Amino acid sequence: MRRAVCPGSFDPLHNGHVEVITRAAGLFDEVVVAVSTNYAKKHRFTLDERLAITRETFTALPNISVVPMGDGLLAEFCREQDAGVIVKGLRTGRDFEYELPMATMNRQLTDVETVFLPGMNSYLHLSSTLLKEVQSLGGEISQFVPEAVMRRLTADDGVA
Ligand code: PNS
Repeated sequence: MRRAVCPGSFDPLHNGHVEVITRAAGLFDEVVVAVSTNYAKKHRFTLDERLAITRETFTALPNISVVPMGDGLLAEFCREQDAGVIVKGLRTGRDFEYELPMATMNRQLTDVETVFLPGMNSYLHLSSTLLKEVQSLGGEISQFVPEAVMRRLTADDGVA
């Protein structure tokens, strides 16, 4: 049984993430989506919201589970989950330069391999940071994020 981990902060989850995670679910028996908390970052959504959004988005894919990653090492998390592979999407060469040292370090730490999936052209410009900026300045982002994200953004607008 081959289990892979798709890690990220997913703040918010966007269609580029969804596409890569869905493809990973086609390649591996089980995919664990690991939702991280980065205390250095100010998150738009709480950990519980990000977990709920991700679970709702992948509810139709039974081999995907969504769990909190905690704030420890990803390599240790993979060992605890009995997952031999980390799956990451790559948008640009810059992503590759950023990811390569981490992939090598993770492999040296616990033997976990990293598999890179090239992102689809239509999603290469998407990043959570850019989407947060566009949305906070009043831009329409519904075409770039799953419905579960929009539902929460719309609910927040209603309260404000
Ligand atoms: O979506 P993000 O914020 O780019 O996700 C980054 C994440 C969670 C994949 C990365 O921060 C990470 O791997 N964190 C775990 C901490 C760790 O293992 N650090 C050493 C990396 S070699």
